[in-house]
Amino acid sequence: MVVTQIGSEGLVLVEQKPQLILGRYVVPVPDKPMGSGSFCNVFYAHAEGDTRDEVVVRRLNRSSRNYRPNSEDYFQNGIRTHRAVDQYQDVIAGQRRFPRFLGETEDGYVMEFINGLPLSDRRILSRTATSNETALIVAYQLAQALDTFHRVPVDGRAVRKPMTHADVKPENVMISWNGRLNLLDFDLAVNGNEPEQNPDEFLATPTYMSPGHVSGNLTQPSDLFSYGSVVYRMTHGVKPFEGKDQAFIQAALSASPMLTLLVNPVRSAGYLGEAIKRCWGIGPIENLYGSSSELRKELESELADEGIKPEEVEDRLSKILD
Ligand SMILES: Nc1ncnc2c1ncn2[C@@H]1O[C@H](COP(=O)(O)OP(=O)(O)O)[C@@H](O)[C@H]1O
Ligand SMILES: [Mg+2]
Repeated sequence: MVVTQIGSEGLVLVEQKPQLILGRYVVPVPDKPMGSGSFCNVFYAHAEGDTRDEVVVRRLNRSSRNYRPNSEDYFQNGIRTHRAVDQYQDVIAGQRRFPRFLGETEDGYVMEFINGLPLSDRRILSRTATSNETALIVAYQLAQALDTFHRVPVDGRAVRKPMTHADVKPENVMISWNGRLNLLDFDLAVNGNEPEQNPDEFLATPTYMSPGHVSGNLTQPSDLFSYGSVVYRMTHGVKPFEGKDQAFIQAALSASPMLTLLVNPVRSAGYLGEAIKRCWGIGPIENLYGSSSELRKELESELADEGIKPEEVEDRLSKILD
């Protein structure tokens, strides 16, 4: 778009990039998404006339090469889940671990802008790999997020499966500069109304997938398995199955949890090392976590042993990231 502006030499023609207006929000740089994933784009936006009212707009990207006929169903699934989770987080949890859901636009939705870094960022991972306190605080906040998520009521079908995230991985976790962890990306969630997943079509990342997910039997313990893999990534400086291809990972996950451990030796000492193995289903059955709630409670006592109160975790993490 060419517009006229008054410059020091009188009227001049300048090229101005068109802004995208979505309801009351403006996307200042529509040709530069902050993130582009499988079938959506995530844009930074702000309220019209108020650049301090910052938000994020997530829109379906029909021209993505990963776009499939059912992508829209997954996208809508993500919106439904996000809405339900956001309504629930205040009611039961008393702490926020998900971005606020702020409403829908014609081809997407608006949410709270998390000013920070994804957990997959090297600046965060280098700290979690070298500081047990940092890893423990991040692991605790992620367990809080899962605990809340797993308790969100599902609606829809007669036979109800409990809420399951199905895509727990570092890229879907954002940490704000003020030390608050946020779990994102609910497209693949099981919420009682989700699209039928084709077993030949893996939409999640195999690196962090669980054996149950690979075999088409997705349950809440599948999220705990992925959680164990995320904690492995945080504490070992490498991804689980680093350097292995997708076929190998799927075959290993289909075999036995022991193979996961053999390929990925757990070297971190202390509670988190044990937690990884228990999340992966290794050890006596009575030793495995019965729920994400149990995991969260145990982490709370680990924090207490380190002299950290639950209400202090965000402040502490913020100082560590400073
Ligand atoms: N609310 C948010 N605030 C800040 N950044 C975000 C927000 N939501 C998503 N992002 C960024 O965009 C990336 C992709 O978002 P996500 O919802 O995971 O979609 P997808 O994986 O389908 O692209 C994230 O890894 C994160 O870096
Ligand atoms: Mg994502």
